[in-house]
Amino acid sequence: MSKVMVTGGGGYIGSILTGQLLETGHEVVVLDWFVFGTKHLNQYKNNPKLTLLNQDVRTIKPAQIKGIDIICDLAALSNDPAGDLDANLTKQINFEARARLGRIAKAMGVKRYMLASSCSVYGANGDMAATEDSPINPLTTYAECNALAEQALFELSDSDFSVTAFRNSTAFGLSSRMRFDLVVNIMTLNAFKDQEIIIHGDGQQHRPLIHIADISRAFVKAIDSETYIVEGQIFNLGVNNVKIADLATTVAQALPMDIDIIYHPNNSDARDYTVSFEKMRNRLGLIPQMQIEDGITEVFHAVLKGETSMTPDTITLNRYKEVMAEGEEIIKKMENISA
Ligand SMILES: NC(=O)c1ccc[n+]([C@@H]2O[C@H](COP(=O)([O-])OP(=O)(O)OC[C@H]3O[C@@H](n4cnc5c(N)ncnc54)[C@H](O)[C@@H]3O)[C@@H](O)[C@H]2O)c1
Repeated sequence: MSKVMVTGGGGYIGSILTGQLLETGHEVVVLDWFVFGTKHLNQYKNNPKLTLLNQDVRTIKPAQIKGIDIICDLAALSNDPAGDLDANLTKQINFEARARLGRIAKAMGVKRYMLASSCSVYGANGDMAATEDSPINPLTTYAECNALAEQALFELSDSDFSVTAFRNSTAFGLSSRMRFDLVVNIMTLNAFKDQEIIIHGDGQQHRPLIHIADISRAFVKAIDSETYIVEGQIFNLGVNNVKIADLATTVAQALPMDIDIIYHPNNSDARDYTVSFEKMRNRLGLIPQMQIEDGITEVFHAVLKGETSMTPDTITLNRYKEVMAEGEEIIKKMENISA
């Protein structure tokens, strides 16, 4: 078993990945500045194999990496609007800190480094499903930082320091750090709350999607794989490419109530892409276990039971706006860095 550092392990995907790693017997160090708190990891807090490290990833010290075998790097401002709040801060966290962490990790003898990148690097690619070899076309600061981080990290990759990038589709599913800024989750919540699903634009734009448990399984699977399978490799992760209009119909049909689908013509989001998941299936051997309907159902039941709801914490952009307005931790850290 390995000692695995999960940066961003307090987040939507990271908290699920942390659970899977502990369940498979790994020792886990979660490094996070816990903008969303530590409560999402409460269920594991008595596990002696879990350590929490409250640390800004930009200022991690080599000593904090000592003894780590594998890094799963998920810490980031995790979507386009949050990335647009402060482009300089986004570059520091989503690109420079990842490149720096990679350099430190390699020097400290870490064997594997796995990056949570994003299919958003493909931008608008029309009808051709993007493979890992397709040209990229990042349209936002967030997507551009993912592309730059991948490039910087692959420059470090060799058989002693194996770098893998997972280009995640838009995630869905239930996590204790819930995100209602993701399309399947928000459609499900709105359908429950208002018996309405709002579509921005004509609904013809495509999104690749994947459940958070399957993203986490990809990391675990890569840890268990021979180095030659994952070293220097990019894997798109997804279960399906769906048109937003069709997704709304899927959500409406999955729920036990009448739902209206309403179109709002304004849409500034130019993202439209489909992605191939062949390599994930054939080379990594990952077959997603969770379908979109499974995610809709679990989110619906959680909102129905009042276990999760729309709060500033569950909208990533709002939480970062809130913290920045408080002018506390993040701002202080920003000042320290630029001083
Ligand atoms: N959720 C998706 O749909 C999706 C899709 C593609 C890629 N990704 C990527 O997967 C990763 C995880 O996403 P998520 O959905 O879990 O997001 P999230 O916002 O829930 O989690 C990110 C975590 O990183 C932490 N973090 C951010 N900046 C940090 C810093 N400077 N130092 C330490 N910790 C910091 C946050 O506190 C948070 O716990 C991100 O890299 C994201 O870009 C997510």
